[in-house]
Amino acid sequence: MEPARSLPHTNDLATQHLWVNAKLATFDSSINIPYGLRDGWAIATRGDSIAVILPPDSPEVRSFPGGITDVGGRWITPGLIDCHTHLVYGGSRAAEWEMRLSGVPYAEIARQGGGILSTVRATRAMSEEELVSAALPRLRALAAEGVTCVEIKSGYGLTVLDELKMLRVARRLSELLAIEISPTLLAAHAVPPEFVGRADDYVGLIVEEMIPLVARERLAEAVDVFCETIAFSPAQCDRIFAAARAHGLAVKGHVEQLTNQHGAELVAHHGGWSCDHIEYLDGAGVRAMAKAGTVAVLLPGAFYFLREKQKPPVVQLRAAGVPIAVASDLNPGTSPLASIRLAMNMACILFGFTPEEALAGATREAARALGRGDRLGTLAVGKQADFLIWDVTHAAEIVCQLGVNPLVERVFRGRGVCVQS
Ligand code: NIG
Ligand code: FE
Repeated sequence: MEPARSLPHTNDLATQHLWVNAKLATFDSSINIPYGLRDGWAIATRGDSIAVILPPDSPEVRSFPGGITDVGGRWITPGLIDCHTHLVYGGSRAAEWEMRLSGVPYAEIARQGGGILSTVRATRAMSEEELVSAALPRLRALAAEGVTCVEIKSGYGLTVLDELKMLRVARRLSELLAIEISPTLLAAHAVPPEFVGRADDYVGLIVEEMIPLVARERLAEAVDVFCETIAFSPAQCDRIFAAARAHGLAVKGHVEQLTNQHGAELVAHHGGWSCDHIEYLDGAGVRAMAKAGTVAVLLPGAFYFLREKQKPPVVQLRAAGVPIAVASDLNPGTSPLASIRLAMNMACILFGFTPEEALAGATREAARALGRGDRLGTLAVGKQADFLIWDVTHAAEIVCQLGVNPLVERVFRGRGVCVQS
């Protein structure tokens, strides 16, 4: 992919800049028109924040003291947020994909010690530096298509040292690229081989050692679980969530992906940030999420790659007013796609999203799913100045057209960044 082209700035004052003549897709819920569109408006940054949003022909534009860029009627959206990824990992699962294509189910491969556990073996064998090098191209690919904030889970280490190693890799990545990272401890991703038949003892290790250590070293913001027959029971997840909350960490869960374990009700009961996957979510789960304000994170990449038939209950979630986000679920097994744009596209084709819902799901709602709704996800005064300038004639084109990158400029914390992949 070519580097994003930078528009010529008349003045490159990093601390104060004004973009004029834009179609601002604000996604501000208080603006009750599609995309929260401000057509022909201007947006200015001061430092790392959005300082002002101005209607066309505002006198302030003429007297603006900083640099000015005329974007020539192009669209500007908030920075894209990928709120569910497993992008730090070692190895490849392409051979397993071949097996799945020939008819062996994902759960069967997992039971035979493949799946997540095969990535665990490869990830444990790699150093922190090797994992950084392996993850960088995936993170660059996301950044190049406009991602300014990404969640990264551990979950392929499954020992104290290896989970911490993965979280340190996530921290290191945030120092290498202009991107915000929300790290999540997913030690309860699979029962490690050392604990086969003793899952409760492994949960004890998570609760008594991993969570306190990760909280003390501020290596994660949230704790995630895989609540499933092939992973952890609701009772085990409950113990993990209680420990997370006691240490001031947020909770979220991979729930109702392959069966309904009532994991969403559990996440909602703990005031969780998000319930992810939720293909098998039922009415009680929808109601619990609506009541708790928990975000539904839909992952069409995993649905597609696993050739699932059961779709998440989008109509019921909408009707109940549950915020709905979309994410890549980037991982080597069930969703090997380093593209939030492809995930948005799949959400439209496979789950019946509108393009506006898909974009809102990867901006405003994704920010809420990461506990950042007050700071990221919309174009509004006071928010962090993370936004994207697109060479498209309509915002839907960002979701519709694949294989070309219409991103012209990526502004992160008030600074224009030329992205290379
Ligand atoms: O989100 N559902 C569990 N975890 C991942 C899969 C990870 C893997 O297969 O490596 C998911 O789909
Ligand atoms: Fe996942």
